[in-house]
Amino acid sequence: MRLIKQAREMAHAAHALHRKGNTLGLVPTMGALHDGHLSLIRAAHRETDVVVVSVFVNPLQFGPTEDFERYPRDLKRDLNLAKAAGCDIVFAPDVSQMYPSGFSTSVEVVGFSDQLEGAARPGHFRGVATVVTKLLNLVHPTVAYVGQKDYQQALLIQRLVKDLDLPVTIRLMPTVREADGLAMSSRNVSLNAEERRQATVLFRALRLAKDQIRDGERRASWLIEAMRQLIAQEPLARIDYVAVVNAKALEPLTTLTGRVAILLAVWIGSTRLIDNILVDVS
Ligand code: PAJ
Repeated sequence: MRLIKQAREMAHAAHALHRKGNTLGLVPTMGALHDGHLSLIRAAHRETDVVVVSVFVNPLQFGPTEDFERYPRDLKRDLNLAKAAGCDIVFAPDVSQMYPSGFSTSVEVVGFSDQLEGAARPGHFRGVATVVTKLLNLVHPTVAYVGQKDYQQALLIQRLVKDLDLPVTIRLMPTVREADGLAMSSRNVSLNAEERRQATVLFRALRLAKDQIRDGERRASWLIEAMRQLIAQEPLARIDYVAVVNAKALEPLTTLTGRVAILLAVWIGSTRLIDNILVDVS
């Protein structure tokens, strides 16, 4: 497995691989790899000839009061895990490689900043859209792999690729969970034992909503209230949002119909966690 730190070198390597007729799979990450990331790398390994994993904690997508500084970083560990999962190239640039002095362009997918994660984290999706555009341009992957765990981000990337005619297929992969249902996340390492126990409330709330939909409930407000009440039972949990929306456009629903996304963001102590499920309502 090769480690590339220079953007130019990444672009050259990708170009040479394309010329030899290889398909390339890209898995963009911020490192601190876990089984969720590894499932994306394994899928890329199954489906493409050469797998590139980017490891870059992107300062543009963190707000001034967010956890950029304390975001976990361990490149050595990431290299071993990525290699074992079938990665061929790790692209791990530093900030000056991605944003050299004078850098002043940003990519904005209009509309995404108004809702859910976008509303809760001003500038976040502009940072994501900008870095993802740069990564796609450097690697020119045939397929890029993204997780449903960050569902709104996945929709944003799909929109961006469509709108800018980028020749890449975006593959959406299911959320990988711990045995007790907690969605795997690099931020889970920040939880102490008690927070870790209470963090399962995100999944429990989603499961409650799913069960109630199965039992015939179709009122979005009722589901939201039931989830809020369940989450409120955990003393360290503080809700940022709980939303029941249409899965394509992320528009709030009054009555559930079609493909529905249930999304939530909850603080557990000083760690902000997100999760979601998709439900087909007939
Ligand atoms: P990061 O949080 O490291 O996630 C990288 C990719 O792994 C994303 O596509 C994310 O949805 C996916 N992922 C995370 N947890 C997962 C889980 N439990 N199951 C399945 N997939 C999971 O998302 C980012 O980084 C950044 O915003 C990035 C896209 C790299 C741009 O900087």
